[in-house]
Amino acid sequence: MTSNVEFNAWRVDEHEGNYKGTEQTLSTADLPAGEVLIKVSYSSLNYKDALSASGNKGVSRSFPHTPGIDAAGEVVESATGTPAVGSQVIVTGYDLGMNTAGGFGEYIRVPAAWCVPMPSGWDAKTAMIYGTAGLTAGLCVQKLLTMGARPEQGKVAVSGASGAVGSVAVELLAQLGFDVVAISGKADHTDSLTALGATEVVGRDALTEDKKPLLKPTFANAVDTVGGSPLAELLKQIKPGGSVSCCGLVAGVQLQTTVLPFILRGVNLLGVDSVEIPLAEKEVVWKKFAGDWKCEKTEASASKIGRADLDTALKAFLKGESAGKIVLDHSA
Ligand SMILES: NC(=O)c1ccc[n+]([C@@H]2O[C@H](COP(=O)([O-])OP(=O)(O)OC[C@H]3O[C@@H](n4cnc5c(N)ncnc54)[C@H](OP(=O)(O)O)[C@@H]3O)[C@@H](O)[C@H]2O)c1
Repeated sequence: MTSNVEFNAWRVDEHEGNYKGTEQTLSTADLPAGEVLIKVSYSSLNYKDALSASGNKGVSRSFPHTPGIDAAGEVVESATGTPAVGSQVIVTGYDLGMNTAGGFGEYIRVPAAWCVPMPSGWDAKTAMIYGTAGLTAGLCVQKLLTMGARPEQGKVAVSGASGAVGSVAVELLAQLGFDVVAISGKADHTDSLTALGATEVVGRDALTEDKKPLLKPTFANAVDTVGGSPLAELLKQIKPGGSVSCCGLVAGVQLQTTVLPFILRGVNLLGVDSVEIPLAEKEVVWKKFAGDWKCEKTEASASKIGRADLDTALKAFLKGESAGKIVLDHSA
């Protein structure tokens, strides 16, 4: 065991119902018990981090708290020997950054069962460009492929296409040879979605509420990142035997549908969780992104910030003004 180490973290304090994140010096003795101590080099920014930093008790119950649901870095202590000291690992999801001190600190201590070995030839910064959002997009695509989705079946729709999950899904599906229809509420993102590989970009009105229980079958398959009524409308437009991977709730948590898409067209609704699934399932997707699923445009367009920029960047998320992938570089 190494002795306690002092480190810097962007930690959020609560004062009379107000929440403020500041740069603080902590000790590894302040971290929770766990098998693996990791020196974090990069984290990634997610909407959930913005919720945690603003005191959302559904995400983080008690303060002071260090957010950051994603982290990548080097193992410096390992009670189990696996992962080995000196190896690079990726940690996303489970309780990291929620009620376990997260990746906005230079060190985290977590169970060994949360650590994915860094795929060979990959690095912490690249992993964090994808982060939980990229992992979720990968899991959505993986589920469609497992259900037999193939490019020759027809168009695949992606809702919330300009978002963090949606944009990776667009690029990944396009490079796998699918004809991707990006559904986006942002007209000014048409060029960037086309550059990611979308063959068509349509507005959210493609999923406007319609009283009919079934609509013209337009899409062979889909990735839905928004939920709510747009998901219900998407299900009505899926071709017989097609599948929809569903991972998000920005348009609502209620899903009001009929059974008709399922019993008359055999449509499959596939739930995707990137947080609590077994580590081995995450590892499969990380290895693919480090291999033939590499999303070059996503990697090239990411921006990098330091801890001093976190407050502004997280507030932009809450206002819906955040765009593109943002990584936190602890050396910046
Ligand atoms: N299941 C999991 O494990 C998991 C993991 C990560 C994220 N998520 C969830 O997945 C969803 C997407 O995450 P994200 O990181 O991509 O979020 P994001 O970057 O905020 O993107 C969401 C996108 O949805 C669209 N949108 C926003 N409000 C909408 C509304 N009211 N109606 C229709 N579309 C709307 C917007 O895209 P356009 O303007 O292009 O339409 C927005 O860019 C979130 O609900 C998040 O909680 C789930």
